Amino acid sequence: MREFWDSTIGKKVFVAVGGTILVAYLVLHMAGNLWSLAGPGTVEPHIDEYASWLRNFGEPLVPYEGTLWVVRAILLAALVVHLVGVIQLRARNRKARPPEYPARRIGRSWESRLMMVSGVVILVFLVVHILQFSTLTIDVTPLVEGAIYANLYWAFQEWYVVLFYLVAVFLVGTHLRHAIWSVFQTLGVDSPERNGQIKAGASLLTVVIVAGFAAVPILFFTGALGVPIDNEPTAAVLAGGGGQ
Ligand code: HEM
Repeated sequence: MREFWDSTIGKKVFVAVGGTILVAYLVLHMAGNLWSLAGPGTVEPHIDEYASWLRNFGEPLVPYEGTLWVVRAILLAALVVHLVGVIQLRARNRKARPPEYPARRIGRSWESRLMMVSGVVILVFLVVHILQFSTLTIDVTPLVEGAIYANLYWAFQEWYVVLFYLVAVFLVGTHLRHAIWSVFQTLGVDSPERNGQIKAGASLLTVVIVAGFAAVPILFFTGALGVPIDNEPTAAVLAGGGGQ
């Protein structure tokens, strides 16, 4: 295993596997977010029920939030492997490049050039995002534990929050499209006949993920999704809204 990690191709495979786990999470997260499109509901918003279901998953065999913590640990491990692998591969590339060779390779797509920049910005977004909606630390708008619909509703009434999320989701898209394409190259399944199909598949998956994520802030901001029934954030808790 150690030898495999130390080899360049091994590292590329680790980066690809880590990235694939992160993409799988993105697809599930995007799909889960779409529960908010079901609106505020009459008793409890569907997205709050869904969040509660995730926390109770596997009970009574698994303790409360047990499954969630296992998923979080896997995600963190995937992220660390992905990041360390990328940083080490980049350092290796730089060392291997003869001094007279231009630092910027010609013919690379703008997305490929943007990979490091978009990666860093996505990381910053991720920290801010978790501090906002998961730990509820960044409360520029009212936030209540378990009241996912209301939290999203109030956050996405603010144009700057909407803009921040749309820019982040767009960058995730550019990162993803190039990353999916690179995974196929790493696996060695790319070929002149298949490249068109692989690129089209990568674009399609990216468009689905970006559109799915972007729909949520846009629909809240435009008023297409109604006001939470427990309009007052604290009332949502008193009424037992959310799964906490
Ligand atoms: C418009 C886009 C997005 C919306 C509306 C959104 C919404 C949310 C919400 C409401 C939560 C808290 C869920 C809960 O407590 O049950 C959450 C958590 C999270 N989101 Fe997002 N998200 C978006 C985009 C993203 C993106 C692009 C990423 C990754 C790059 C991401 C990664 C995460 C992670 C890692 C968590 C923490 C999950 C946990 O606590 O276990 N999100 N998101």
